[in-house]
Amino acid sequence: MTDPKLRVLISAEKIRTRIRELGEQISQDYPQGNLHLICILKGATFFMTDLARAMKRDVFVDFMGISTYGKGKTTSGEVKVTKDLDISLEGADVLIVEDIVDSGVTLNYLLHVLEQRKPRSIRIAALLDKPERRMRPVHVSYVGFRIPDEFVVGYGLDYAEKYRNLDDICVLDGGAAG
Ligand code: IMP
Ligand code: MG
Repeated sequence: MTDPKLRVLISAEKIRTRIRELGEQISQDYPQGNLHLICILKGATFFMTDLARAMKRDVFVDFMGISTYGKGKTTSGEVKVTKDLDISLEGADVLIVEDIVDSGVTLNYLLHVLEQRKPRSIRIAALLDKPERRMRPVHVSYVGFRIPDEFVVGYGLDYAEKYRNLDDICVLDGGAAG
């Protein structure tokens, strides 16, 4: 795909290598117990499926739908659960798998929601982190890449539902700013 608005920031190969490292690290950090990977729809699906396969232990996989962003590039600040989990988290080690932490509003909210369900522990794995944009404090235990304050697409990340299936993570220049 050649699109003049796209500039590669992180190549597919770099993503692959980093996810393999994260998978090994997480496997070592959780030597036993039930580990639930909670994938935040839809952006994190690509990351979660690759991360799960990079892990050297059994995992449970579940999905949660959350909406914060509209069709543009800026958050509305409003968080809503659009699809809830299927599996109970009681007594489990929970790893929230997210594509990107931006303002932190989504994960800050989600942590509060999931803590009510009595898991043994909760941590966050995010492929990307934009620390400059943080509005709410969130501790991310596993970060794939820290990136500057630029709008990125690909490898699950979208702009108005487009570009999710790009292999690389790309900066989207210009276009309609939201
Ligand atoms: P937060 O609540 O502001 O941390 O927003 C997190 C969500 O915003 C992510 O799960 C993404 O869906 C979306 N998001 C934030 N930054 C970007 C970006 O650069 N590209 C695509 N989606 C983004
Ligand atoms: Mg999104």
